[in-house]
Amino acid sequence: MKYLVIGNGARESAILWKLRQDEPEAVLYCLPGNGGTARIAENVPISPGNQEAVADFAEKNKIDLTIVGPEQPLVEGIVDIFRQRGLAIIGPDKATAQLEGSKAFAKDFMKKYRIPTADYAVYGSAEAAQTALENWKYPFVIKADGLAAGKGVLIVENEAEAVDGLNQIMMAKKFGTAGDKVVFEEFLSGIEASLICFVDGHTILPMESARDYKRAYDGDKGLNTGGMGCFSPNPILSDKAIEAEIKEQILNPVLAGIQAENMDFRGILFIGLMLTETGVKVLEFNVRLGDPETEVLLPRLKTPLVQVLWAVYQQKLSEIKLEWSSEACVGVVLAAAGYPEDYETGKAIKIADELKDEMIFYGGTVGTAEHLLTAGGRVMVTAALGKTRAAARKKAYQIAETICFEGKWFRRDIADIED
Ligand code: AMP
Ligand code: GLY
Repeated sequence: MKYLVIGNGARESAILWKLRQDEPEAVLYCLPGNGGTARIAENVPISPGNQEAVADFAEKNKIDLTIVGPEQPLVEGIVDIFRQRGLAIIGPDKATAQLEGSKAFAKDFMKKYRIPTADYAVYGSAEAAQTALENWKYPFVIKADGLAAGKGVLIVENEAEAVDGLNQIMMAKKFGTAGDKVVFEEFLSGIEASLICFVDGHTILPMESARDYKRAYDGDKGLNTGGMGCFSPNPILSDKAIEAEIKEQILNPVLAGIQAENMDFRGILFIGLMLTETGVKVLEFNVRLGDPETEVLLPRLKTPLVQVLWAVYQQKLSEIKLEWSSEACVGVVLAAAGYPEDYETGKAIKIADELKDEMIFYGGTVGTAEHLLTAGGRVMVTAALGKTRAAARKKAYQIAETICFEGKWFRRDIADIED
């Protein structure tokens, strides 16, 4: 079989790794890929934004199944283009991808289908939003409606911060048209968790749990990042009562909503949750796999990913039972000097031969498979399985220590928790 993975991060690198494990003979392409993905797949130098060219490539090369990593191509409608041409692809269509592409759309969906979430209001102009400030108690949350690379969410403590935030989002258009509307939300406190599910329109099948570390530095200090490490399973979501609550209060109504709205959703739904004192609430939806969650979930998935993805595509997910390794998996992000602010690039990466069988998932890298250079803030993820979380952690850190590039740094406290 021939598979095309769209994207260029460590998440896509982990998808390729799993496909290779499942089907050693498979022909793998990554579009556009990065220096490290060239070790496992053939990189395709086409921009994912050039959707007709991507579909042309899939058609000409007789790709059996295309898997989309990041949200942008989904929100821009790549699935619709593939469908029109009869090409098999995993992901929601453009209208459905609004669950991630518009926070107002997602909140209205949650309200309509009674999915527990923070109270909210949507404002379509700076004046309306400014006027509404007097109705909101601090702290509350201001979100740019559209995609803002995870940076469009502000927790505002006072009026000055709120006015400044609104100016940036709606007047200065810091995130472009993503700031044409804003959502104001009640501030929720509690413990965050994420749940990633396969969806085929008839069935919603959650994966095992994972925990992501979003802040840059140890002890959850510093700026928010794309994620500095992760582990699975996450004991917080292993509680049976919480699992049942999530199924009844969230997964069932989400599926009912997808069906009632006739959404073409054959893909992945990532549900950001807040475990509050008054129950589990949804913070956000994403319509793709998480990064770095994927890097610790796929190594634990015993069921061939391709089998699950074909079931998603053919709407036969009800026939699938996911099998998981009982081992824990821990992933550590190796970052470039300066990340998450301006970072250095172009540093030679040295990976000792004895690491060739280890799980190293490549993100910000360029060059050839033999001569890799750093090219992004999050350069790679080193992952390891272990009988216990502590054993997996020890090994993931050993690999992280062994890899060399100038300025390399990583959080030291990933998966360092009490049970
Ligand atoms: P989102 O992109 O909507 O998930 O928001 C990004 C992050 O902002 C979340 O992971 C939370 O840490 C925080 N956040 C979002 N919405 C809320 C809320 N209503 N209350 C508290 N924190 C929130
Ligand atoms: N790790 C969070 C995300 O992928 O959105």
